[in-house]
Amino acid sequence: MSYFQHPVSDAKPVRVGLIGAGWIGSFHAESVALRIPAARLDAIADPDLPAVETLASRLGVSKISADPADVINDPEIDAILIAAPVRFHAGLIAAAARAGKDVFCEKPGGRTVEELDEALREADTARVTVQFGFNRRYAADFAAARKLIDDGVVGTPQLMRSLTRDPGTAAGIANPERIAPGTIFLETLIHDFDTLNWLNPGAIPISVYAVADALVAPEAKAGGLLDTAVVTITYSNGAIAVAEANFNALYGYDVRGEVFGSAGMVTAGGPQESSATTYTAAGMGAATARLNVDLFRDAYTAELSAFVDAVKARREGIQEHGNKHPGGVDARNALAVALAALRSAESGMPVDVATVADLRPAEPQFQPAGESA
Ligand SMILES: NC(=O)c1ccc[n+]([C@@H]2O[C@H](COP(=O)([O-])OP(=O)(O)OC[C@H]3O[C@@H](n4cnc5c(N)ncnc54)[C@H](O)[C@@H]3O)[C@@H](O)[C@H]2O)c1
Repeated sequence: MSYFQHPVSDAKPVRVGLIGAGWIGSFHAESVALRIPAARLDAIADPDLPAVETLASRLGVSKISADPADVINDPEIDAILIAAPVRFHAGLIAAAARAGKDVFCEKPGGRTVEELDEALREADTARVTVQFGFNRRYAADFAAARKLIDDGVVGTPQLMRSLTRDPGTAAGIANPERIAPGTIFLETLIHDFDTLNWLNPGAIPISVYAVADALVAPEAKAGGLLDTAVVTITYSNGAIAVAEANFNALYGYDVRGEVFGSAGMVTAGGPQESSATTYTAAGMGAATARLNVDLFRDAYTAELSAFVDAVKARREGIQEHGNKHPGGVDARNALAVALAALRSAESGMPVDVATVADLRPAEPQFQPAGESA
């Protein structure tokens, strides 16, 4: 099916170039083209040219290439959206920054803190915006939880929890050998690590202990697969957090967060598709979301919309106040926890995060005037 891009609401829309036309790149492409009126999707690059052609013809994008450099160096492109595999992220961020382009990059920002730092240095030098794809922050319930924490409703965080259960089927994980070793920490739990860091403002993760196994596809463990993991994290303010993940939840896509503090508790998330619940002779029932792009559709749109606003603000010379969106510090802090967890799972020992990287807390979240900090 073909769609026309929406009419832009702006005389000078933000012209976005997409790099990576796979699963999440295609969804982000639709968000920009169909749901964010202040932006246009103007170019797509991916070495898989047939994938680019399919997406471009569906969304009416005329500039296509197999080479990301063509999009990055196109003078008519304002901002680069990176949805390529992880091993290309840091290099693509750096190349986009050198070309003076603002960047939205999927998580994680790199495979190592060192390569991420190098990319962030290039972005600093070029004074461009870099935002990372920590979409949970933009889900209405998680955002409300953070606001309640900021407002002091929960008190000082003491126990925290975040979990991700990816949707699965009775047949188990399809082609588990295609999942790179470390994926559960670097690409799945990294969302939970960012969520926990973000829901504990001002604190940094200090120590990490991880236990992981291949319980869904034990035959793939020898090839490096880990499909089930629990990670404990202790924070500089004493809070103790647990993050857990599994790749095969038969009941749908399940993402939850919880912060228990000195004054109470706040929870967010859950697998329900909506709050509609049936009550019948058979009992209670509710439909569940089956895909990330269903559960987080609005959050994915909101994070890109925030990015487009930040690009416009920079273009118009408007000063940004504080760390409004997940940026380099957040990407670094989450990546450091993921790498510490990977090392802990391998060694069976707790790992000091300081042995992975020197961390600092993210700046306080910007609050519009009139709202409490
Ligand atoms: N935020 C989220 O919820 C979320 C969800 C899914 C994926 N992701 C992240 O997005 C990234 C991509 O994941 P995916 O599931 O879409 O993967 P995918 O395999 O479906 O797509 C990746 C695409 O990148 C292309 N590619 C390969 N090398 C490239 C290069 N050098 N330059 C440009 N493109 C290249 C591939 O041809 C493919 O089309 C990963 O970092 C992943 O962790 C984030």
